[in-house]
Amino acid sequence: MSRAPASFAPLNTPRQLIKAAAKRFRSARLAYGHGTLNADDEAAWLLVHALRCPFEDLAARLDQPLPAKIVQRALQLFERRISERIPAAYLTHEAWLGEYRFYVDQRVIVPRSYIAELLQQRLQPWLRPRQSPQTILDLCTGSGCLAIVAAHSFPRARVDGADLSSPALAVARRNVREHRLAQRLQLIRSDLFNGLADRRYDLILSNPPYVRASVMRTLPAEYHREPAHALHGGGDGLDLVRRILAEAAAHLTPQGWLVLEVGHNRARMERAFPQLPFIWAETSGGDDCVLLLQKAALAEIPSAPARTPRPAVARRRRAPVR
Ligand SMILES: C[S@@+](CC[C@H](N)C(=O)[O-])C[C@H]1O[C@@H](n2cnc3c(N)ncnc32)[C@H](O)[C@@H]1O
Repeated sequence: MSRAPASFAPLNTPRQLIKAAAKRFRSARLAYGHGTLNADDEAAWLLVHALRCPFEDLAARLDQPLPAKIVQRALQLFERRISERIPAAYLTHEAWLGEYRFYVDQRVIVPRSYIAELLQQRLQPWLRPRQSPQTILDLCTGSGCLAIVAAHSFPRARVDGADLSSPALAVARRNVREHRLAQRLQLIRSDLFNGLADRRYDLILSNPPYVRASVMRTLPAEYHREPAHALHGGGDGLDLVRRILAEAAAHLTPQGWLVLEVGHNRARMERAFPQLPFIWAETSGGDDCVLLLQKAALAEIPSAPARTPRPAVARRRRAPVR
């Protein structure tokens, strides 16, 4: 184990460590958006991981001196966050969507889809209160996070999670096991709908790659720690979105719904697909990221160019210090 860097010594309470780390994060101009939105919260998250205590316990321990071993562990995490630009979620191997925790590593993007917020409201008001989908597909499932949140929100549903990436599916498998959902959540390797034969679903969710080529090149280093194939949506970002819109109807039951995340891209989508009556859901990211369509509304889809930035985060971890 290396010695504590001089720039952090001789700090030994959580409050001191978080403040010092956040100051260094700011001067190193780190980028956020993988579970936190600022330097203080990012530092607190890493410190809590070093402490091995629930985030909620931090406030009560802010001014308690820490054993040298824990201080050392925290300092090493701070140093890696700065020097390697690895998002905290990959250093701690955990990410949260609402109340649900997921294992993550660099085989999958860090979960932050706004669709999770809608699932936790059981897709009200679009699904009627008693209407419960029996069959759900999470297309482009990555870590399996949306498939798992959907399975928790609709406890009677059978859920499929599909992804083209075998390494991502290995992470999803671990999460399905940890959430004890293997009985009704199946993972399938598939290029979008190609591997799903004639399966039909009451609900199709998808947070596909949708970052356009020119934006990919300008993303902060932290985003380049994520698998590029999970972010990059082709020249205008809409390669996969177009395919999903064109093929989803064939995999929906008559009253079925498609819920699709497209980034802060409402205006472009409306220009590209003027004939589609998109419903835009309000989420913490605004009303321009997630659209809904019922099967009947999915008609012939012409292609059109569009541009898409990545959205921000799902669960924000807020430090009790500023
Ligand atoms: C933006 S990530 C979403 C992951 C997860 N659903 C989430 O919200 O965190 C997109 C995922 O799409 C997968 N993917 C990319 N191209 C695909 C394709 N042609 N068919 C299926 N999955 C694909 C990637 O492997 C990646 O896991």
